[in-house]
Amino acid sequence: MPSADDAVLEKYIRAGNIAREAREFGVSHVVAGGSSLQLAEAIEKLIIDRGAKCAFPVNIGVNEVAAHYTPSKDNDLKFRMGDIVKIDVGAHVDGYPGDTSSTVEVGTRNHTSLIQAANEALKICIEMASPGTTVSSMGATVARTIRSVGFKPVQNLTGHSMDRWNLHAGLSIPNIETKDRSSLEEGMVVAIEPFSTTGSGKVVGKGRGSIFRIVRDRRAPPEVMSLLSRVKQEFGQFPFAARWCERLDPDSDALLQKMVRLGMIMSYPVLVEVPGSFVAQAEHSVMITSKGCKVLT
Ligand code: CO
Repeated sequence: MPSADDAVLEKYIRAGNIAREAREFGVSHVVAGGSSLQLAEAIEKLIIDRGAKCAFPVNIGVNEVAAHYTPSKDNDLKFRMGDIVKIDVGAHVDGYPGDTSSTVEVGTRNHTSLIQAANEALKICIEMASPGTTVSSMGATVARTIRSVGFKPVQNLTGHSMDRWNLHAGLSIPNIETKDRSSLEEGMVVAIEPFSTTGSGKVVGKGRGSIFRIVRDRRAPPEVMSLLSRVKQEFGQFPFAARWCERLDPDSDALLQKMVRLGMIMSYPVLVEVPGSFVAQAEHSVMITSKGCKVLT
């Protein structure tokens, strides 16, 4: 008889495999002139066709946009030659998430070393990750690896532990040296995600994005409650996209804005570096094992 832990591991492995396939599909379909909206929808469809669900809307970060941008009907960014594009995808099986990302350059090779810096930092972190490894030592390694080739780590973005229905389960894995003495423990599932940048090394929130998360329950008009309950049913506690809600209610855009005003949901601001800079990201989800870690994505 498989133990409960085996069943959980199996779900993480399935989610991870599907997230990896979705990431690879996404990266291989970024083309000059292509629509980011069509690409995000195709990636999300692949996740669902494979029998998983999205753990968050596909994030497509172009150039100085580091995180939390997902295309929408009103904001469908087109890829241009020379862009660098981060495809960050999350899939879950029964609430167990896999989170992974990769960066690709559109038609040019001007940023190979920037992209390689994030990839290399991730690779070294995976080699280091085992029970007892401090998150601070991982952050220091990320920073050293990226600085050694002339770029900066993004200091206010971090990796994160994950749990069922939870993308941020308490532990952060920084991209710089910190005083945090927390360490990895056997059985933890963590997303490690170094960001390298040609900019300032810090991201700031810019404008309202179209990714949302439920923050608290409260009494609200019936049409709001009805959309909220459908959102919970469809997406659980995971972040969701405005464009996913259109099929739940024809008036979803207005209702979502109402829910924001009532403090029931929050929208993630798009996180950007300084204009004209370039940010690369590499990310895998791993499970910490007795001897090291197992890459799930
Ligand atoms: Co992540």
